[in-house]
Amino acid sequence: MLHQLVLLYAAGSSPPQNLITTALLTMLTDDRFGSGLFSGSLSTQDALDEVLFNDPPMANYCITYPRLPVLLGDVWLPAHQPVVISMAACNHDPDIRTGDLTGNRSHLAFSTGPHACPARTLGCLIAHDAIDQLLDRIPEMSLAVAAPDLVWRPGPFHRALAALPVTFHPNAPTRHR
Ligand code: HEM
Repeated sequence: MLHQLVLLYAAGSSPPQNLITTALLTMLTDDRFGSGLFSGSLSTQDALDEVLFNDPPMANYCITYPRLPVLLGDVWLPAHQPVVISMAACNHDPDIRTGDLTGNRSHLAFSTGPHACPARTLGCLIAHDAIDQLLDRIPEMSLAVAAPDLVWRPGPFHRALAALPVTFHPNAPTRHR
């Protein structure tokens, strides 16, 4: 039970958080999404798809242990040794990046096979809703630092902003009925 709780907490909190912040960064810095966030032609869903393709929240993971030595290209993967798979590198394979990627969801951001993420739909829904609610409350948000000055958390697995500093005008509190 403890292992299940730790797995669910780790798998269910950090990747959606990273998806939200990286997609927001894309929307704040890429003119195709409109400098004013609402004037662009591409949507929140397009930003999520692009991030999942170009900058997936789990950049490298899906550790696997070959039962026998496997020849991959001209490299032997020894048996019983961990192999870390780079979903980010797979997604950048020039053979699959042909034409316009808008709306293309043939990425490996959620892995594949028996241990693929069981919450693909849920994770996208959480991120989509979080971004839309945030932009609904503070549509005039803009980045507080130059994009190259943003700090990314260190680590071999995740692609995670340490923070996404933004500026916005204070609004009156929203009243919920
Ligand atoms: C939205 C962004 C998310 C991304 C990019 C993502 C990505 C991934 C990836 C790449 C794996 C495969 C790990 C592996 O093969 O070793 C995975 C597994 C998993 N994810 Fe997600 N995930 C996300 C959201 C979530 C959420 C919201 C939950 C739970 C509520 C969740 C629960 C899990 C669980 C339990 C596994 C392990 C599945 C297994 O080992 O059979 N994920 N996720």
